[in-house]
Amino acid sequence: TAPREAEGLTVVITAGPTREPLDPVRYLSNHSSGKMGFALAAAAAALGARVRLISGPVTLPTPEGVERLDVETAREMHEVAQRLAGECDLFIGCAAVVDYRAEAAAEHKIKKVEGEEGLILRLVKNPDIIAAIAARPDRPYVVGFAAETRDLEAYARDKLTRKGLDMIVANDVSGTETGFGSDRNAALLLWRDGDEVGQVDLPPQPKSELALAVVRQALARLDAADTT
Ligand code: PMT
Repeated sequence: TAPREAEGLTVVITAGPTREPLDPVRYLSNHSSGKMGFALAAAAAALGARVRLISGPVTLPTPEGVERLDVETAREMHEVAQRLAGECDLFIGCAAVVDYRAEAAAEHKIKKVEGEEGLILRLVKNPDIIAAIAARPDRPYVVGFAAETRDLEAYARDKLTRKGLDMIVANDVSGTETGFGSDRNAALLLWRDGDEVGQVDLPPQPKSELALAVVRQALARLDAADTT
């Protein structure tokens, strides 16, 4: 049988949301179900890669042949991603990392205060996981996502440059047909090609198919980067 496209490669993927505690019973998070990231893991494994999936709290079964590492907060995800990044060829950041966490999670349940109509929470920035991976001297090929509700291409190009990524999968998360939680997705794929930016439009399709297209494009670019 012919060797599979990703045979011999190690791929690290982040998926799902992160969860940032406010107190022992409450947290800040988002609507990521993990479906897109798990589909990427399944696609990379089907193409023969060794896949390590760093997942936030989701309710999905682990795809066959995939090694899964569960985390909860952005800082935990950052730590595991940094530990695995030195030993991989391709890193795909699909997780919806919560950008800010409570400066200090309360030790006990936050109580309502009689007579106070508001509550002020002080938040601090979480680490940018993918930008830190892209800044490493031993960096793998780095693919990020951009979840946008408007000006998709402009914001995606900005993230590609600002975060130092090799490729970005820009998806519109303003509707319910694609993006968060749905079984389908559409994307604009942008990648660095020397001083240029290459692009291809991936129309609405099942996340499993879109994942395969993204992994294949990344493998092709990775291959081109190795031989030039
Ligand atoms: O999980 P599903 O329900 O299937 O939904 C899929 C999805 C919509 C979550 C997915 O397709 C997607 O868009 N994931 C990225 C979500 C996101 O947080 O995008 P962003 O534009 O805020 O972040 C840009 C990139 O930086 C992403 O690669 C993100 O993983 C990364 N990031 C962001 C913040 C941070 N602190 N660290 C990061 O690494």
